[in-house]
This record gives sequence, C-alpha cells and structure tokens, in this order.
Amino acid sequence: MSVVDDIKARLDIVDMVSGYVTLQKAGRNFKGLCPFHTEKTPSFVVSPERQSWRCFGACAAGGDAFSFVMRSDNLEFGDALRLLARKAGVELGPSSGEKRDGLYTVNAEAARYFQDALKLPQGATARDYLKGRGLSSEVAKRFQLGYSPSGNSLKAHLAAMGLSEDDALKAGLLRQDEESGQTRDFFFNRIMFPIHDRQGRVIGFGARAMGDAAPKYLNTPQTPVFNKSDTVYALHLASERMKSEGVGVVVEGYMDAITAHEFGYANVVASMGTALTERQVSQLRTLASSFVLALDPDTAGQEATLRSLESSWRIISRQRPPSGSGLGGGMIWREPITLRVAPLPAGMDPDTLIRSDREAWERGIEQATPLVEYLIPAMASRFDLSTGQGKAQAADAVFPFIASTGNAFDQERYTRLLADALGVSMEALKASVSRQRRAPAPRARGRGDAAAAPGISSDRLADDSSRSLDDYTLALLLSKPDLREHAQDLSPDLFRHTEDRELFRRWRERGTVEKLEEELDETLRERLADLVRKQMEPADRRQLEAALRQCLDRLRIRQLRERQEALLASEEAGVPTPRHLEPEIESVNAGIRELSG
Ligand code: UTP
Ligand code: MN
Repeated sequence: MSVVDDIKARLDIVDMVSGYVTLQKAGRNFKGLCPFHTEKTPSFVVSPERQSWRCFGACAAGGDAFSFVMRSDNLEFGDALRLLARKAGVELGPSSGEKRDGLYTVNAEAARYFQDALKLPQGATARDYLKGRGLSSEVAKRFQLGYSPSGNSLKAHLAAMGLSEDDALKAGLLRQDEESGQTRDFFFNRIMFPIHDRQGRVIGFGARAMGDAAPKYLNTPQTPVFNKSDTVYALHLASERMKSEGVGVVVEGYMDAITAHEFGYANVVASMGTALTERQVSQLRTLASSFVLALDPDTAGQEATLRSLESSWRIISRQRPPSGSGLGGGMIWREPITLRVAPLPAGMDPDTLIRSDREAWERGIEQATPLVEYLIPAMASRFDLSTGQGKAQAADAVFPFIASTGNAFDQERYTRLLADALGVSMEALKASVSRQRRAPAPRARGRGDAAAAPGISSDRLADDSSRSLDDYTLALLLSKPDLREHAQDLSPDLFRHTEDRELFRRWRERGTVEKLEEELDETLRERLADLVRKQMEPADRRQLEAALRQCLDRLRIRQLRERQEALLASEEAGVPTPRHLEPEIESVNAGIRELSG
C-alpha cells in the first residue's frame, strides 16, 4: 500500500470534513453548505462509502481527502501530505521538503554574497551598468540585485560558510566540470537577479551579461526548488498591490518589472520571457480578477501572447478553482477574470516606455484591449483567410473566447466583429461554430473496438469502482508519448485520487516522464513508478487511440454516475433536490445516455 493509500485508509473523510463544515446525514451520504462558495441550500455531499466529496453548486468540484484540505487550507500536494500524515499518525520518510531546505539556504546565502559583491571594488563595472540603466540603489536593494565575481569565488564563500557543496550543486549554483570533475561557479561576471517564490524565498537566479556575451540572460537550470515556467518574477513584491487594486500587469522581462516597480507600479510581475503557463496563471488568478498583458510589439512577442492566451485559457475559462494546483488550490473563484492586452508602441519594451513616457504607459494599461477584440485581428493575420478552411480555423480559435464572455450583448458584438474580420455572414459563422460544438467527440463505435484495443480485456475495465481504470488510463498515457496531444484538454478531475490528478497535471506540463520524475516528491514518485512498471502491449497508433477513447468515456461515465448517485441518495433520504440542480441532473442523464449509447 502506498503512503497515500495508507493515510486515506486511516482517516475518515466525514470526520475530517466535519471539522470545516456542519454535515447532516442524508441517507448513505452527508450534506452541508459548500465551504468553497457561498450558498443557502446545501449542495455539498460527502460519501463515506467512496470517501469522497462533491459540490453540486457553483464549484462543481469533487475529490478525496487530499483535494479537500488542499482546497480549504490552500496547500500544495506535498503540504497536504504532511498535514494528513500527521493526522493519521503515519510516518513519512525524510521528506523532500527537508531536502529542499538546504537548497533554500544556499540560494539565500548566494543572493547575499552577490549583493555584497556589488559593493566591492570588483563590482564597479556592475554598479556602473546598473546606474547606466537608470536603477536607483533603493530598487536594486528591494530586488536584491547583485554581481557574481569570477574565479570560483562563490564556491569558496559557501565552503567558508560551512554550507554543503552538494546542495549548491543541486541548487544550480555550482556545476561539475566534465573533464576535471572539479566543481565551479555556474555564474560569473554577470548582474544577478535573484528569483523568489511567492513567500519571498530565493529559489534561483537570472544572470545578465554586461556586454555581448551569450546568452544575454543565463538562468538557473531546473532544480527541486526552481522551475522557470512555474515561477512568476516579482510576485512576492507585487502580490499586495495586486490584491488591493484587483488588477495585475504582466510583462516579459526582469528589467521591465523592476523599472515598473521603480516608478511605483507595484502590481507588475514578469513572465520571464516564456508564454504564460497554467501554473503561472493559477498563481496570479488567486490575487486579482483583472489582468493586463503588456507585451513587446514584435511578431515573436505577438506569437508568444497568442500561445500564452491559448494555454492559460484552459484555466481562465473554467472559472473555478484549479483543482489542486498549489497556490490556487484553496481560493474561491467567484468573479470572472478579465484579461486585456496592451500592445506597446513599436520598438519599446515596458522598461523603455516607462522611462521615456509614463503617461503613455499608464494610458496603455488603462485602455488595454479586451482579449477578444485583440484576438480577432491577431487571429486573422495568423490563418489564411482566403480559404474556407483558414476561416473555419480562425473561427474555431476565437469562438471559445467569445462564448465565455459574460453577457449576450457582448457576445453578439464580438461575433459580428469576427464575422467582419473573416468576411463571412453572421449566419454562416454561427452555423460553422455550432456544428463544431455539437459534433460528438470522436470515439469508439460499438463494442467491436474493444477487442482491437491492446491490453484491455473487458474484465480489466469492468470494475469501474476499483482503481484499475485510473491505473490503466494513466499508464497508457505515460507510456505512449503519441497520446499526449489527446490529454491536453482533459480535466484532471476525471481521476478520482488527488495523487493521480497531481501526476497527470504535472506530466502534461512537463511533457515527459523523465522530466516529471525529476521534480516529484518521494510519494508521488512511488506512484509514478508503479504506473510506469505496468506493461503495455505494443500497438499501433490507431489501436492506442481507440483504447484511450474507451478509457476516457468510461472515466466520464463514472464521474457522471457518481454525481447522479449522490443526488439520488440524498433524495431517497428525503432531502429534496434543490431546484437549481435540476438542469444538472438533466445534463448528467443526457451525458450518461450519450456516452453509453
Ligand atoms: P528580453 O530579451 O526582452 O530582455 O527578454 P529584457 O528583459 O528586455 O532585458 P534587457 O532590457 O535587455 O536587459 C525578456 C525576458 O526573457 C528572458 C528573461 O527573463 C528576460 O527578462 N530571457 C531573455 C532569458 O531567460 N534568456 C535570454 O537569453 C533572454
Ligand atoms: Mn529590455
């Protein structure tokens, strides 16, 4: 039994949830007011049999004991694990959390060292550089900017401080020379920009060359505490202001964020040059409900914007808390998020614009274009609109954004804008889009395919209530990289157990099992190893896709059935189903009919 299973077996979810919610017995289940959104009629159901919970109201979420505490206490999976292990009296091995402590320590010491080096005689060029870029010493201090001298001086300093060389290697501060086997400083003769997590701990560095040395910025490689694409630069300095203003501004570069703060725009963070990832968005969305992306006007920048919008889209469009996604996990997502884009004048990045014309910057942010209005012309230049196919692609790309805008009038207006941009009639556009949306997801026809699907015997899939379906689906995805594209739009909530959701979500972001493995805690790594060990029979792509479709249909049916059962159980117990749930029941029934049909 894995540690997670052991913990679950020792805890009772009804007891645990009762610590947060007043529960009332309703037949086989318990009912109460959902702790994750405001409501007057109880739509929160806990099932002792399944050891699971589900909200039928606004959040439409559900899960196990882990996802419950992650959400209510705003915890990452690892923290939830430690909390529940303590509650259950289960001993955890030397946690990767403890191992990480050493990495935070060396990073903090390195930041201090670089900062001090900036004041020494050998830091003169670096000081001049920063002055030349117009940075005050006050803001340099707030951002803990520093200088990395040459000559393996950091290595010597850390040794003198009695800090572990091994931790410094793991933190990416030192590297091992392949030929000599010697350890050396990873950064030298660069301006050092410490990168902090949301709590303000140093987790890595961006290091800028002062001359033309390439790369312009050398960043800490991925380490157990640093992953560039999970991190939002300056978030620890911007979160207060973002919260109080309800607005956040996202720029691309370190210098852009620093200059913004220097001039008093303290709600600005940087994405560090990459397209915004889901993890970045999920951290941001807990702080404000309105965001402006101020991005460089070059074509690469535009392309990056589109890509980031498409990926962050999945989160934003769900309009509810990302399940178990770390910092976002416990926040209640009531207000719809608005996203606007501020294209900057040609040749300007935020750093140069703010310095040359503050008013233009402020105007740009204030008058930023609502996402959909920005997307329509941008999409139009991305697809070949002289062909019907290009028009259909552009329509499909933009329409989900339109459909999500709050009110019918805006939708109408945007649909018209899109139709005009594509040079088609409103009717043709609506018809094309609704055809697209109604088309059933391609899936296995009839039972015949089951035989063709490799490695799935019907009894392996028969027992939906056991874990085998989750196991098989995950093992299939993990072992067959070809199937990855089919996982992009799946909800991690299809899996029943938090650790599976977590694995799935992270694997989808990392792309490969190897990359995933690097960042995992012991406990999750154990689960991953179990899954990877499962032997998958060789099969061609068509067979694999058929197998996956079948699994996904079953997972969806299972999810719908569970909702249905919980509702029925409450009704049997004489708790009438609240009116607002009737459409939900209707759609659950229809969903089950369609998938099993
Ligand atoms: P830019 O090339 O736009 O740099 O990269 P910048 O921020 O304007 O920097 P200055 O003003 O020339 O000093 C934007 C961001 O992309 C990442 C960094 O986070 C940078 O701030 N980047 C860029 C890298 O990580 N490595 C690079 O080599 C270049
Ligand atoms: Mn710049």
